[in-house]
Amino acid sequence: MKVVGVAGELTGWKATVGVHYVLEAMKNADPSIQTELIEMKDFDVEFVRGDPLAYYNDDTWEVVTKISEADMLVFGTPIYQASITGALKNLLDYFPVDAFKRKVTGIVTTGAVEKHFLVSEYHLKPILSYLKGLVPTNNVFIHSDCYSDVNEIVDDYVLKRISALAEEMISLQKGING
Ligand SMILES: Cc1cc2nc3c(=O)[nH]c(=O)nc-3n(C[C@H](O)[C@H](O)[C@H](O)COP(=O)(O)O)c2cc1C
Repeated sequence: MKVVGVAGELTGWKATVGVHYVLEAMKNADPSIQTELIEMKDFDVEFVRGDPLAYYNDDTWEVVTKISEADMLVFGTPIYQASITGALKNLLDYFPVDAFKRKVTGIVTTGAVEKHFLVSEYHLKPILSYLKGLVPTNNVFIHSDCYSDVNEIVDDYVLKRISALAEEMISLQKGING
């Protein structure tokens, strides 16, 4: 099984680190799992215009194709204006309505306001569900204070939630695959 992580930030690193931790936890739980982390800041994904994918640049084609071909997905985003980043929303706009059918789609959010942990439930989960992704019951919100200066997550509760998400994702995907 291959899991692709998508870090939906064009600047900063906290969501990228969060997704990286989930991918590592999945590999620890099941060493046969292959992982890849797509950092959106490394790709020039064009704005969606409604054209077929072939009309867009190579970066856009590459990112959309990698996501389409993954068995499982982990989406990470910093919270901007009590929502997901515009970059991530634009990326999700590329996918047809059944794109994430039979894929488990996990969520990691980072933010500076504790109460915005609900953004994943009310802004990202509905989009992933609309695309037929199976969203686990566990998700991970990481407050800015939970990071050290050297890009590590230093909060035990967050680390437990990361493990719980990783384990639930693998279990759900194995169930789907039969
Ligand atoms: C444009 C902008 C809007 C933001 N809006 C929110 C917000 O509504 N709620 C929140 O919790 N944090 C908000 N933040 C803070 C970021 O979510 C938080 O700092 C995030 O973890 C950034 O990680 P970084 O340091 O890797 O960029 C905002 C940050 C920016 C730049």
